[in-house]
Amino acid sequence: MTGHQKKRTALITGASAGIGRELALVFAANGFDLVLVARRAERLEALAQEVRGKYGAESHVIVADLADPAAPRHLFDEMAARHIMVDALINNAGYTVPGHFRDTTWADQAALIQVMVTAVAELCHLFGPGMAARHYGRIINVASLAGHLPGAAGGTLYAASKSFVIKMSESLSLEYLPYNVNVTALCPGFTYSEFHDVAGNRAAMNKLPKFMWMTGDVVAQQAYDAVMAGKTVIINGRFNNFIALLARWMPQGPLRKLMAMNQRNAKAKPNAG
Ligand SMILES: NC(=O)c1ccc[n+]([C@@H]2O[C@H](COP(=O)([O-])OP(=O)(O)OC[C@H]3O[C@@H](n4cnc5c(N)ncnc54)[C@H](OP(=O)(O)O)[C@@H]3O)[C@@H](O)[C@H]2O)c1
Repeated sequence: MTGHQKKRTALITGASAGIGRELALVFAANGFDLVLVARRAERLEALAQEVRGKYGAESHVIVADLADPAAPRHLFDEMAARHIMVDALINNAGYTVPGHFRDTTWADQAALIQVMVTAVAELCHLFGPGMAARHYGRIINVASLAGHLPGAAGGTLYAASKSFVIKMSESLSLEYLPYNVNVTALCPGFTYSEFHDVAGNRAAMNKLPKFMWMTGDVVAQQAYDAVMAGKTVIINGRFNNFIALLARWMPQGPLRKLMAMNQRNAKAKPNAG
C-alpha cells in the first residue's frame, strides 16, 4: 500500500486476553487498524490506547458476547454502519467447558458451540464475500493442536469444535484461492494465556514441563506470517508438530489407548487447550 491509501483493518475476537491480545499487537505493528471484540470493555479500551501509543493504530472497541446468536450479524452490521472494511478477520475467542459431558448443562455446551463453531463459521460467511470482491482478505481461525488429536475425556466438545475449525478453514482456503483471500487454521499447543485460569486447571497445568509451552507473542507472530504466506494449517512449535505427526502416523487404536492412559488418573480433567 502507498502512504496515502487507507490503512487496512483487522477484526479480532477475544482480543481482551491471551493469544487474541498478542494477535492485535502483531497486526497493529504491521500497519493495521483494529476492531477489538470481547466481553470485557475496559481491557479492550486499554489495548486500544496501547496500540495507538505504540503503533499509531486506530481501534474500534466492540463489546460483544459471542454466545449470543445475534452477535455475528450485529458485528457485521456495525462495521457497515461505521463504514469499516474488514480486511483481516481473526476468529480467536474460545474456552473449554471442563468436565464430562453428562455432568454439564446443555446451556453451557450450546454456548460453546455458538462461540467456537457457529460464530466462527458465520463471521467467515459474512465477511468473506466482501474480501473476495475487493480481492484482498486474510482470515485466521484459531483452532488447536487438540483438533489433530483423538477426543479426550472431559472438555468433550473442545477437540470436536477445533477439528471443525480446521476442516472448514481447509475448504474455505481452497474456495477463496482465486480471490487473494488467505484462510489459515492456527493450531497452537499449550500457550501461556488465561485459558487455563478460565478452565480452572491452572495448578495442574503448571506441573507440565516448560518445553511444552509457548508464549502468545511467538504464536501470534507465527500466525501472522502464516496467513500472509497463504498457509492453510499451521501447528506452532517443534514439540507440537512432533505430537501432531505422531498422531497422524500412529495406528489410531493404540493412540486412543495412550490418550486413555494419560487421563486415567485425571478424572474429568479439563482438556489442554
Ligand atoms: N492457551 C492455550 O493453551 C491454547 C491452545 C490451543 C488453542 N487455544 C485457543 O486460542 C484461543 C484464545 O485462547 P487463549 O488461550 O488466548 O485464552 P484466554 O486468554 O482465556 O482468552 C480468551 C479470549 O476469548 C474471549 N472470549 C471468551 N468467551 C467469549 C465470548 N462468549 N464472547 C466474546 N469473547 C469471548 C475472552 O474475552 P472476554 O472474556 O473479555 O469476553 C478472551 O479475550 C481460543 O480459541 C483457544 O481455544 C489456546
